[in-house]
Amino acid sequence: MNDILEPIFRRRAVKVFDPVEIPQEVREQILNAARHAPSSFNMQPYRFYWVQSPAKRKTVAKLCMGQKPAETATALVVAVSDIGSMHATSRGQVEWMRKSGFSDEKIRDYERTAKVGRIIFMPGPFGIFGGLKWSIFRLVNLWKTFGMPPVSRQGIFKWAAKGTSLACQNLMIAAEALGLHSCPMEGFDGRRLAKFLGLSSRHHEIVMVIAIGRKSCDYSETPQWRRPFEATVTVL
Ligand SMILES: Cc1cc2nc3c(=O)[nH]c(=O)nc-3n(C[C@H](O)[C@H](O)[C@H](O)COP(=O)(O)O)c2cc1C
Repeated sequence: MNDILEPIFRRRAVKVFDPVEIPQEVREQILNAARHAPSSFNMQPYRFYWVQSPAKRKTVAKLCMGQKPAETATALVVAVSDIGSMHATSRGQVEWMRKSGFSDEKIRDYERTAKVGRIIFMPGPFGIFGGLKWSIFRLVNLWKTFGMPPVSRQGIFKWAAKGTSLACQNLMIAAEALGLHSCPMEGFDGRRLAKFLGLSSRHHEIVMVIAIGRKSCDYSETPQWRRPFEATVTVL
C-alpha cells in the first residue's frame, strides 16, 4: 500500500499502552507534523500541551476521568484552540515575509487581508459586534454570493476547532508512522483541565486530549467498523 495511506489505515484508538520512552526527536517530529496541517487563513489557531512529567500526567489522566488510555499513556497531548493568538500570528507572518524577501506589495496585501480578517473574526467585548456583523453580512448575502464568516465567539471557536482537529489528525498519523499509537479523547473535565493548564475561557477551548504511547502487548482491538461507503459519500 502507499506509504502515507498505510499508517492512516493502520491507526486505531488504542485503549491500553505499555510504558515506553518517546525520544525528544520523535516528540518534535510528531508535533511538527501537527503544525503542518492546513488552517483557515493559515492562522494556526491552536496550542498543544505535551504532558509527559509523571506527576502532571497523573493529574491530567485523572481529569480525563481516569480513562485507561490516559492512565497508561506515555504522553498526553492537550489540543487547545487559541483564538487569542491571531494578532501575534499575523504579525509573525509579516515579519517572516519581510525576512524572506517578499515584495512590499505582497506584504501590504497580506496586511490588508489580515486586518479585514481580524475585524471580521473579533466578536468585540461581550460579543457586541457579533450581532451587528451578522446582520450586515446576512443583508449583503441576500443579493451577493458570499460565505458567512463566524461572528460570535462560539462561531469563532468552532472555526478554530476545525484547524485544531486537522492538526490533531496529523499528529495521530505521525505517531502511527513513527511506530507509536494514540487515542483521541473527548471525555475530560474541561473546566478543571483548563484551570490546571492556566487557560483563559476568553481565548482558549480544549478540543481533545490525545493519549500517545506504545500499544500494550496484552491489548487487542475489536474489529474496526465504518458506516457503508454509500452512507457517507455522495458523488455528484
Ligand atoms: C473527538 C473524539 C473523541 C473521542 N473520545 C474518546 C474518549 O473519550 N475515550 C475513548 O476511549 N475513545 C474516544 N474516542 C475514540 C473513538 O471512540 C474511536 O476513534 C472510534 O470508536 C473509532 O475507532 P478507531 O479510531 O479505532 O477506528 C474519541 C474519538 C474522537 C475523534
